[in-house]
Amino acid sequence: MADAAAKWTGRAVAFADSYAHLCAHTAAPLLEAAGVTPGLALLDAGTGSGTVAALAIARGAAVTAVDAEPSMVALAAASVPEADVRLGRLPDLPFADAAFDAVVANFVVNHVPDPAAAVADLARVTRPGGRVAVTVWPRPAPPLQQLWNDILAALEIAPAPSIVPDSLNFPRTPDGVAALLSKAGLRNVSSRTIEWSHHTDLESWWIGPANGMGALGEALAGRDERTRTRARHEYERLAAPFLHNDDLILPTAALLASGDR
Ligand SMILES: C[S@@+](CC[C@H](N)C(=O)[O-])C[C@H]1O[C@@H](n2cnc3c(N)ncnc32)[C@H](O)[C@@H]1O
Repeated sequence: MADAAAKWTGRAVAFADSYAHLCAHTAAPLLEAAGVTPGLALLDAGTGSGTVAALAIARGAAVTAVDAEPSMVALAAASVPEADVRLGRLPDLPFADAAFDAVVANFVVNHVPDPAAAVADLARVTRPGGRVAVTVWPRPAPPLQQLWNDILAALEIAPAPSIVPDSLNFPRTPDGVAALLSKAGLRNVSSRTIEWSHHTDLESWWIGPANGMGALGEALAGRDERTRTRARHEYERLAAPFLHNDDLILPTAALLASGDR
């Protein structure tokens, strides 16, 4: 199986400057769903630049954070020195069974080739009675994500193939992500959709695709300069309805699911 985490190689700073601001929106509800309280031993799996780990530290948790990408580990360790930040990869987390009171993964289960195996590993390292909480992006794509699809359609470029084989995929709906957690043996599973508008600007939001991230960035990887220039023109054209003076305001949504080990 291709190394799905390799697409993040060396991209920690670009992620921190772009998508991390988007992902930050669900950090607080994710920690609430995980029942984070002072002193609780929390694992933040796929910590990225450390947004969720930092918020959990601020709430008094004892935080361990892992990421499969070394540049993310280095950035999170520097940004959140109070956390124990390590290299670690789902579904083979470097921890004993039942090592944590609660485990969270903010927009990580949607970046692994075997989501069920990843959730099973999150459950494995959670103590009996502890909490697991995850977020993923929904389908159909909300306007923020659809913008990248529309640019690709205008360019007549196919999206990069899914990293999840059909046989391992799950519906990106509240019921679909709840079933994923239930199949991993979690109990009292609940799920919901969180809707919001991401506030950014044209240049900041272009950092993602310019650095090979997101649906547009992945599909543009290795393309020639002329194609990239056309993509930028289509971006400016298709993003125009979301511009309010210099603010780019993009409606989006996430699925948040949690359960008891
Ligand atoms: C969209 S980012 C989310 C980062 C962070 N949770 C946040 O909310 O800002 C996905 C992260 O998952 C990491 N990742 C991808 N595959 C992984 C795996 N198999 N195990 C652990 N981390 C992984 C990536 O390196 C990246 O940092």
